[in-house]
Amino acid sequence: MNLSYIYTILKFKKWELLFLVTILFALKWSTIITLRPNMYHFIELDKCPACFGTSACNYIYEVDITLDNFYSAFSYFFGVKNVFFGVLNKNKVVLKKLAQSFELNEFDQMLCENKNLSHICTRNTKATSSKFNINFLELIEKEINLDFSKDNFSRLRLCPNVQHLNNLLQHVYHNNKDIDPEILNLNIWVLTALNPEPLLLQILSADKDWPLPKYLGACGRIIIEEYVGLPLANYYNEPWLSRAKISTSLLDAAYMFTYKDKDFGFYLTDISVDNIAIDLNNNVKFVDLENVIVVDKNIIPAERVTAWNQLQVNTENFSCSECLAFSSIEICNHKISDHNYYAICKVLLALNSNNSIFPGGLLHDIPTDILETYPNLQYLVEQCVAPQISFNRIKAGMELKKLLDDILQKYT
Ligand SMILES: Nc1ncnc2c1ncn2[C@@H]1O[C@H](COP(=O)(O)OP(=O)(O)O)[C@@H](O)[C@H]1O
Ligand SMILES: [Mg+2]
Repeated sequence: MNLSYIYTILKFKKWELLFLVTILFALKWSTIITLRPNMYHFIELDKCPACFGTSACNYIYEVDITLDNFYSAFSYFFGVKNVFFGVLNKNKVVLKKLAQSFELNEFDQMLCENKNLSHICTRNTKATSSKFNINFLELIEKEINLDFSKDNFSRLRLCPNVQHLNNLLQHVYHNNKDIDPEILNLNIWVLTALNPEPLLLQILSADKDWPLPKYLGACGRIIIEEYVGLPLANYYNEPWLSRAKISTSLLDAAYMFTYKDKDFGFYLTDISVDNIAIDLNNNVKFVDLENVIVVDKNIIPAERVTAWNQLQVNTENFSCSECLAFSSIEICNHKISDHNYYAICKVLLALNSNNSIFPGGLLHDIPTDILETYPNLQYLVEQCVAPQISFNRIKAGMELKKLLDDILQKYT
């Protein structure tokens, strides 16, 4: 079939083609408008055990998925974001397929083509009945221990080594203790390969005050989590005091991810105005946890590099003022890094008026009376973005938080 042939079809059959396309659209839209997605097709339970789990399967059909806005409909139609909003027992929830449709297809294709994994490929009907002769724990270790120099696409990394992996995953094992350990490890491996967000939502549980949404469970290739609120991107024009409250909550989160857990430090490498949502009390919650570096703080002395106990300091890349340049290898070589403060201050708080997403930063247009009473405010933001040699970014971030808390106490 050559181009001129296609051209002829288009020329003479254009009305028929238009009719066909309209019918296809109408069919798809009628699904969207009337019956919501076909739940069975949507959940893909047939992909299990190569799926995210089954803990939410007895109530997932009760979730009322709202495809009433353009974003959700677009997402469903094209499988781009694959994030859906719904209601469960009057509570707003979010359903995630955790990857774009093409990534999920590639993953399934990989399973089917790999001779060690083809027995869990759904095309292979005898699959689930046979016992696995593969150690999925080893595959998990391999997945989260990938060499940064070979693959810098981070997802979940545990470093400098994975000797305390069991400790990191203890809450995941505890929450799923009724599940066959082999199946559970297979589910965990699928998540490490596609998107580890549900693991992090369980490791850093919202019930223990981590600034993350509550994890509700998984069914097939869908997970359900609490809906937090609108993204930070929508808060740029809120009153200054609300933005100050959000900023203290951001700085608090930077502290928690770095210090709250005595065994592990959590460094978020995809911080943006879309990946943070704001709850009704102007508290931040991190809603996209696909890319996280976890540093094991307790590796044995023999494994530590010389600089292990020195703070890892991120430096700005002056040739690209909008970039968040960082070195995963360097973060992994230190017990503590200032990465979380760096990312939050540089991406969200920097007073830089050239910032295309948040011009002047989240704290833009500081009221003059506040600026007069607290002249240190701008200086501390600047020091958190790019500290002078004599200063320390984490210290600047902590002082900034304290100052914002004082302001909020005085003015609210
Ligand atoms: N738990 C949640 N609560 C509120 N909004 C959410 C939640 N999870 C995701 N969102 C919204 O959906 C968007 C896409 O979700 P995300 O997990 O970031 O997907 P992607 O990996 O495709 O970026 C986010 O930018 C955010 O606005
Ligand atoms: Mg996102």
